[in-house]
Amino acid sequence: MRTLSRIAEGLFDPLDTARARVTPEVDMAETARVLSVGNGVAQVSGFAGLHANELVRFSGGEVGIASNLRQDRVGVIVLGDTAALYPGQRLRRTGRVVDVPVGEALLGRVVDALGQPLDGGDRPDTQDRQPVECAAPPIMHRAPVATPLQTGIKAVDAAIPIGRGQRELIVGDRQTGKTAIAVDTILNQSDTDLVSIYCAIGQRGSAVARVVQDLREGGALDRTIVVVAGGDDAPGLQFIAPYAATSMAEHLMAHGRDVLVVYDDLTRHARAYRELSLLLRRPPGREAYPGDIFYIHSRLLERATHLRKEHGGGSLTALPVVETQAQNISAFIPTNLISITDGQIYLSPELFEKGHLPAIDIGTSVSRVGGKAQLPAYRAVAADLRLMYSQFEELESFARFGTQLDKETRAKLTRGQRVRAMLTQAEKDHMTVPEQIAVLLAATEGLLDDLAPDSLDEAANTLRAVMRHRLSDMSNDIAAGKPLTDKARARMQDTLRDALAEERNGDA
Ligand SMILES: Nc1ncnc2c1ncn2[C@@H]1O[C@H](COP(=O)(O)OP(=O)(O)O)[C@@H](O)[C@H]1O
Ligand SMILES: [Mg+2]
Repeated sequence: MRTLSRIAEGLFDPLDTARARVTPEVDMAETARVLSVGNGVAQVSGFAGLHANELVRFSGGEVGIASNLRQDRVGVIVLGDTAALYPGQRLRRTGRVVDVPVGEALLGRVVDALGQPLDGGDRPDTQDRQPVECAAPPIMHRAPVATPLQTGIKAVDAAIPIGRGQRELIVGDRQTGKTAIAVDTILNQSDTDLVSIYCAIGQRGSAVARVVQDLREGGALDRTIVVVAGGDDAPGLQFIAPYAATSMAEHLMAHGRDVLVVYDDLTRHARAYRELSLLLRRPPGREAYPGDIFYIHSRLLERATHLRKEHGGGSLTALPVVETQAQNISAFIPTNLISITDGQIYLSPELFEKGHLPAIDIGTSVSRVGGKAQLPAYRAVAADLRLMYSQFEELESFARFGTQLDKETRAKLTRGQRVRAMLTQAEKDHMTVPEQIAVLLAATEGLLDDLAPDSLDEAANTLRAVMRHRLSDMSNDIAAGKPLTDKARARMQDTLRDALAEERNGDA
């Protein structure tokens, strides 16, 4: 017996020591195999101890997010093409969550949702990375919105002012000028320290190329990061793109920068998430969206804020865009977003058709916090602009019935039409604050009532020139944030009236 066991020892001992020396390369708990592949998601099995939202890497190099964790299988949101995946393929854990490169080096670049360049340039020279999903800054780190974000668009800056750190929704049907407002706002920052991120979600490549072209031609690309997850890209990439863009913005904000982020648009983002959720077999709710659709948008927009000085002092302003169908703003996604944001700019297809551009419906649009940040000089014109304008619109719709109008009503209509003409503004025709105030003051105070409608454009140019030259001292004061005193206002009104009269006499 003893001999036998000694033989056995002799036999097995070397094997045991050999085994101790070997570190197995494939830890079975760390790898898994693909069970099935759908469009954008894969079902895999074999992992043990996988974390929620952990990044996994397929043997072909594609990455994905572990999403539906179950005992027997895991649903993976694939951040890339699923065409290359096949059942039986191996994948492994990475122990990380999805992160993106962050830093100033990204400015001027066009990147995908993972921060990889799409503009043919080198990899951005960034030092840091940040997870795409971060907790929003706590309330105690937040300061009130106090600085205006000037869009250069009169209807917005005067009637629906936006402050740095605010979340303002741009809502409207397709082709109503939503992207134009967002891009104009980015372009208008040439003389400010604000940097921008334009995040394109689910758009056609040609549409994104046009925006990039506009930014480049307007000299704004150097101050902008363009993050693109196109309509042809995997739904997983479209889903993470706005979070990635926000992380890039947060990094800049933490270093004291004021950042504007445009999400164009969240309707398509919601659709990408719905597609993923259905493929992951999560129970569909209203309009087939999953139950957490509100949460995915609120946790994104909660990250917009103005930080206190001791926490960096920067700000993140969010301009999410949402596309409605047949003007239905009470559809699921638009109502959700309206309730999450601090106001909305509503674009109306009727105004667009009539040529009242930008097609902003002032009566339906609001800004809940921007008014506190508006430059004080606007008080001279903005206070009753909204009310006066909505009264005019109401009057106008009655006047269409061809009723006999008294003199006073006709005068009101004329005044309203002048104000409307002055609120009309072409794309990329940004106006400084003093110019906006001059033009709107002239309209609301009736300086333009006697002018023929076809001479209003010229009149507006005259008024703008007055502010640039004759009233440049006053312009500087207004831009510096000084309120417009009654005396200054009277002087402005007189100078503008004189200039218009001179122009008319010159023509005669
Ligand atoms: N203020 C404006 N003046 C003239 N054209 C405009 C104005 N705003 C938008 N447009 C034009 O209207 C079209 C639709 O605008 P876009 O911003 O692409 O709409 P959306 O993003 O809502 O689909 C574009 O061709 C754009 O050039
Ligand atoms: Mg658009």
